[in-house]
Amino acid sequence: MIVCRSRAELDKLRRVNQLVGAILAELRTLAVPGATTQEIDQIAERRVREAGAEPAFKGYHGYPATICASLNEQVVHGIPSERPLVEGDILSIDMGAKLDGFYGDSAVTVPVGKVSTPAAELLRVTEESLFRGIEAVKPGARVTDIGAAVQRHAEAHGFSIVREFVGHGIGTSLHEEPQIANYGPGGRGPRLAEGMVLAIEPMVNAGRAAVKVLNDGWTAVTKDGSLSAHFEHTVAVTAEGCEILTLREADRERARQLLGAAVSS
Ligand code: MF3
Ligand code: CO
Repeated sequence: MIVCRSRAELDKLRRVNQLVGAILAELRTLAVPGATTQEIDQIAERRVREAGAEPAFKGYHGYPATICASLNEQVVHGIPSERPLVEGDILSIDMGAKLDGFYGDSAVTVPVGKVSTPAAELLRVTEESLFRGIEAVKPGARVTDIGAAVQRHAEAHGFSIVREFVGHGIGTSLHEEPQIANYGPGGRGPRLAEGMVLAIEPMVNAGRAAVKVLNDGWTAVTKDGSLSAHFEHTVAVTAEGCEILTLREADRERARQLLGAAVSS
């Protein structure tokens, strides 16, 4: 069953997701040459706890940290480490938090210093793909329409979509129904309705789609070693479309442009 949230529940979801969005905005500024992802993780945990919230990932099936920090060919679930970031890296920072019984979840992939043109293109197209998916969210549309829109955009640019990990409903658990694949035909399966809350999170590879999990039991990497990017927003279905709960006020204009681009091309 896909839960539709009441206004009071949506207020709580908005609060925790705004917190996640704000912390992520700070964390992305810390991804500079010489910094380590462990340092970024420590700041993330401090910010979450200062706000009276709890990290959502730490302890989840034994995951050891507040953020997932996935570098370059790492797709998702990279564990923060002492390896200093170097110019040209791309770093995915994924963070979840729990506040007042409700979860928030968001991710961005950021360039460390100046990155190669193909890397920058991968980041741009992956974020655009997320916004194509968001654009598909409205009452009456199908869950599968999201993945269809994501896949169309990523593959139109010659990139591939990771199959093994999916987006998800989110609420009083981090992962709720439905699963939201980032690929496949649309127009089938359950319909979206006002009050549903979804974490949409495309993972896009510069090379082939195949991934494997390293011996640490967590870190997913591309099998061919190609770069991978990951962006995630949590959205609530509204009467007209959706509200991006993890979007900060400062990013609203940029989001409008991304959504506009989705409409016009
Ligand atoms: N955003 C990811 C997800 O929703 C991150 C989960 S990391 C984990 O699955 F450690 F919590 F598994
Ligand atoms: Co998620």
